[in-house]
Amino acid sequence: GRVPSTMRAAVVRAFGGPEVVRVATDVPVPRLAPDEVLVRVAAASVSPLDARVRAGYARALYAPMLPLILGRDVSGEVVARGDNARAFPIGAQVFGALSPVQPRGAHAEFVAVTEAHLAPKPKTWTHAQAAAVPFAALTAWRALFTDAHLKKGERLLINGLGSTVGGLAAQLARAKGAAAVAGSVGKRSRARVAESLGIENDHMWTYDEKNARDGSVLKSLNAAAEHFAWEPFDVALDLVGDGKKNSERTLARLLRRGQGRLVTAHGDLARLVGEFGVARGAAAASVELARKKVLFRVNEDVSYTWSVMRQDAEAMRRIGEYACEGVLIPPRVETMALADAADAHRATEAGTTPGKIVLEP
Ligand SMILES: NC(=O)c1ccc[n+]([C@@H]2O[C@H](COP(=O)([O-])OP(=O)(O)OC[C@H]3O[C@@H](n4cnc5c(N)ncnc54)[C@H](OP(=O)(O)O)[C@@H]3O)[C@@H](O)[C@H]2O)c1
Repeated sequence: GRVPSTMRAAVVRAFGGPEVVRVATDVPVPRLAPDEVLVRVAAASVSPLDARVRAGYARALYAPMLPLILGRDVSGEVVARGDNARAFPIGAQVFGALSPVQPRGAHAEFVAVTEAHLAPKPKTWTHAQAAAVPFAALTAWRALFTDAHLKKGERLLINGLGSTVGGLAAQLARAKGAAAVAGSVGKRSRARVAESLGIENDHMWTYDEKNARDGSVLKSLNAAAEHFAWEPFDVALDLVGDGKKNSERTLARLLRRGQGRLVTAHGDLARLVGEFGVARGAAAASVELARKKVLFRVNEDVSYTWSVMRQDAEAMRRIGEYACEGVLIPPRVETMALADAADAHRATEAGTTPGKIVLEP
């Protein structure tokens, strides 16, 4: 079909509460770089990252990009191709993740995406399901396989099993032959996790999500440490974060000494960049990371690293295949109209909906 010159999009012109997300009707349709395709968005997820960026997280990084269009996941149809884009024909149904710093995201009718970052949409999934997965699955992939080198037969612990990333990490680890997956989970997520991931009861510890930052996560991890003192884990993935309570050290104590790897998705890079600007923040971050690497090696004899989502063409292709093979089950999704993008931010922050929120233009 024809591609118009303007489109509807949820635009953020200044950082703030959900009310700063305004749907405009006269936003120019993105121009394509040679390696990009234009995707007519069928569905795009709203993630914790979208909400945090809107609120001013890593401000020094994102402020120069204002006005921003958020939305890091897309599922939809290829409607135009850049000069060198050959991978997909016009009309192809595709899904994929955008870089965390692409200024014009998928909360719009159209989005420009590097074609290497897309894969064929799994035929067995709806667009809404397909839009709930890529960014979270690539986050899990990067942490588990690129950073932690999780191998067949190894044991994996996930702090925050109830999150989208946590559920996908558990499934990807099993697909790769992990011997055991265990983790901590919020009270309200527990039943859903047990049902959708089939984690055994004695492999799950519940924390009170209302007090998560207040020591409840730490308490649940200590219970785990006691329970599993006899059988340490090879890899621990932290999706909850340290807070002030040093839950990272407890996670480290659950790991095998020597070869254990602790990977956190809550590194301090973005916070420090937000605080000190891009150059000084990045320098401060590398000092801080080096300090923690030494600390964890000396005190707990485990490796420690921060993990950040990266696009990965090979990983995206495998994720699509796992979806088609039924190895990867999508999270439950809740669709909302693009016109209600501000409400979608509110709901994502409140965490009260029973599924991952996905916007449909
Ligand atoms: N470093 C990176 O590049 C990177 C990339 C992506 C995400 N992250 C981080 O990883 C963490 C997880 O991200 P995510 O996108 O997976 O977040 P998410 O799906 O929104 O999950 C966050 C929390 O919300 C609750 N929740 C999620 N789905 C639910 C449901 N259906 N019903 C009830 N509660 C539900 C769970 O809380 P409880 O079980 O605790 O109650 C879960 O731990 C976030 O902290 C995010 O900032 C980091």
